[in-house]
Amino acid sequence: MQQASAVPRDDVAAADAGPEEHIAPAPRVSVQAFCESVDTAAAIQAAGEDRRLAKAHMRVQMGGLTAAVEAYQSSPTPNVIMLESESRGDDILAGLDQLANYCDAGTRVVVIGRMNDVTLYRELVRRGVSDYLIAPVGVLQIVRAICGLFSAPDAKAVGRIIAVVGAKGGVGASTIAHNIAFSVAHDLVLDSVVTDLDLAFGTAGLDFNQDPPQGIAEAVFSPDRIDTAFVDRLLAKCTDHLNLLAAPATLDRVYDFGADAFDSIFDSLRATVPCIVLDVPHLWSGWTKQTLVSADDVLIVAAPDLANLRNAKNIYDFLKAVDEEPMAIIPFEPQLFGAAANNGQMIAEISSGHRTADLFRQLAQQLTGRSEPKKQRSSLLSPLIEKLLQR
Ligand SMILES: Nc1ncnc2c1ncn2[C@@H]1O[C@H](COP(=O)(O)OP(=O)(O)O)[C@@H](O)[C@H]1O
Ligand SMILES: [Mg+2]
Repeated sequence: MQQASAVPRDDVAAADAGPEEHIAPAPRVSVQAFCESVDTAAAIQAAGEDRRLAKAHMRVQMGGLTAAVEAYQSSPTPNVIMLESESRGDDILAGLDQLANYCDAGTRVVVIGRMNDVTLYRELVRRGVSDYLIAPVGVLQIVRAICGLFSAPDAKAVGRIIAVVGAKGGVGASTIAHNIAFSVAHDLVLDSVVTDLDLAFGTAGLDFNQDPPQGIAEAVFSPDRIDTAFVDRLLAKCTDHLNLLAAPATLDRVYDFGADAFDSIFDSLRATVPCIVLDVPHLWSGWTKQTLVSADDVLIVAAPDLANLRNAKNIYDFLKAVDEEPMAIIPFEPQLFGAAANNGQMIAEISSGHRTADLFRQLAQQLTGRSEPKKQRSSLLSPLIEKLLQR
């Protein structure tokens, strides 16, 4: 009698890889796959269970490129899109060109195809595709491809830092920072972390109704221990995609830091979290200055009075920024904001349909590059701002 033995595909892949292969775990990224074959879908699903993808959020669906183009016409793209196509090269390229119209900056694309064809591969690379895998694909191959996007020496850090600062104290900078981060996590399904840099008086913990035992202080006071794993353990989970690096908000220590005290914390966060919102206190010191300079985006919150506008202009000039139109004008609504603050809730949680909740959604989209900025109406403040900028 004879025995038939089929080698499961994964064993082949594992054997290919060799026992010593080290695959660095992927950061907290979102991965969406559009498959054409059940086998590929199953392999990607299984890859999602791998410990190295434990932090990644995976979603697998069928329909290939057509379904992807359809889906992203109306919704933001994730950090990684995996596309399977059983078509010929020309059809794949045409589909990708169509998808490119809807792909947000920073989204990486991995294509899985049937063709082993150098010309196709070159064309894919030319279009910015990060990797091309030839089906049938094994689980390990997928894990390696996704992790490799973020661990290669030339890989760009995943995280984008948005620093939010008030032109004066008490103008609502922290409130706006928290609401934007909430919307990024909730509406754009992008992992985000609120970092409360107001160590003595920060309110992020109160605003999200959290009282974590540790946070930013543990990091900044133990510079030798900082790495991604250490900083990761200090994060407090607020919602599915939102984490908090809380301020102690106690006065038993003073918080005088050197200019580069937070640099390695930011680097660690950048390596693992796609969206980092910094709640920067209203003060001018070596480290606040450096924080603003090193951020990808700085959002200045100002109330409509002369002192605020003067200070906002000074921050603009310092950052050599030129975009003088406000991104959003947030109305003064003491009842709504007071209720949110006292309940430890965000505006969208109190009243999701409220116009102000929509403003935060738009800000979240614009700041993460998830959509074309909508054309702003000329604002009430424009004449005043123009005057200040002309000075
Ligand atoms: N648009 C708004 N309308 C009314 N009150 C607001 C608004 N934005 C913020 N607030 C309230 O103003 C106070 C100060 O806000 P906060 O975010 O702590 O300011 P900052 O960080 O600039 O010092 C808080 O009580 C907050 O609830
Ligand atoms: Mg504040």
